[in-house]
Amino acid sequence: MKRIFSGIQPTGEIHIGNYVGAIKQWVELTEEYDCIYCVVDYHAITIEYDIETLKQRTINTGLILLACGLSPDNSKIFVQSHVPEHTELTWIFNCVTPIGELERMTQFKDKARQHRENINMGLMDYPVLQAADILIYKAGYVPVGEDQVQHIELSREIARKFNSRFGKIFPEPQAILSQAPRILGVDGVNKMSKSMNNYIGLLEDKETIWEKLRTAVTDVNRVRRTDPGTPELCNIYTIHTAFSKNEVLLEIDKGCRSASIGCIDCKKTLFQNMMKELDPIREKAEALKKDENYVKDVLINGAKACSEIAKKTMEEVRSGLGLFWP
Ligand code: TYM
Repeated sequence: MKRIFSGIQPTGEIHIGNYVGAIKQWVELTEEYDCIYCVVDYHAITIEYDIETLKQRTINTGLILLACGLSPDNSKIFVQSHVPEHTELTWIFNCVTPIGELERMTQFKDKARQHRENINMGLMDYPVLQAADILIYKAGYVPVGEDQVQHIELSREIARKFNSRFGKIFPEPQAILSQAPRILGVDGVNKMSKSMNNYIGLLEDKETIWEKLRTAVTDVNRVRRTDPGTPELCNIYTIHTAFSKNEVLLEIDKGCRSASIGCIDCKKTLFQNMMKELDPIREKAEALKKDENYVKDVLINGAKACSEIAKKTMEEVRSGLGLFWP
């Protein structure tokens, strides 16, 4: 069975960009693939973070993944730092990764701009740790949002470089994108992200979600209700593609282009369809909050299973490198 790996940072509050760009397809892919999903706490410490809440945010992120439909029956779910082989392999990959490649990573440049006071080595090395996450399980496919594609390409390059020097151990992983791989924030300009504060939280209450949707920027060229709109230029339409059925999308497309429906009508339909999908997730999350020990057990057992795979890969890697090992 082909293997999938993907990861998410423990921000604690997952937004609909994460859901639509990644998690929704993580759940779908469990039907066909051997899936491993990881809460990447070591990635989260590359920027300033709140030490007091990291532990709870990590558990909450696992909880949300379970609420979205992942389970120990369909995938392995675990916390990155529980399998220290990830960081061990990172060191080895560091020795085949050109610094120039890391300097040109878009995410590094963006984050270095945002965190000028703390441009640390971890921030730069972030994609190498990401490559180690994927390759330690020899995963061939990585479901991610568009912003991560450059990192997956680097993982391929690292695998190629390693294999050509030390023997063919790793596959060259490919990104799998969802049908809506880039969701903009409610500002309609920047990528939806927690740090931009332009997000709709997956578990936010209905009133808050509606208020954020109601005021969200649509097609900026559609100024008056009577102006025809262009769905492909509208972030709300992109979100529709993730939550609404094809026949609804066709109606919205036609209505928007002919100005027979307004943006608020379109948003109301989206809100209804979103809630159909998010209500059960919210309910499941509430139930899981009452049983946090279950969530912790899932994560701990997931790490045990992943450790076994990671240890085997490291044996091959050490042997390829020519290390003396007892
Ligand atoms: P993170 O936590 O930033 O994002 C988790 C996933 O959500 C996707 N995503 C989006 N998709 C569409 N529109 C958006 N606005 C949006 N915002 C976020 C991201 O593309 C991602 O798929 N570096 C990874 C974490 C990671 C990882 C890995 C991923 C660590 N190791 C190995 C894959 C494989 C990240 O940025 O997560």
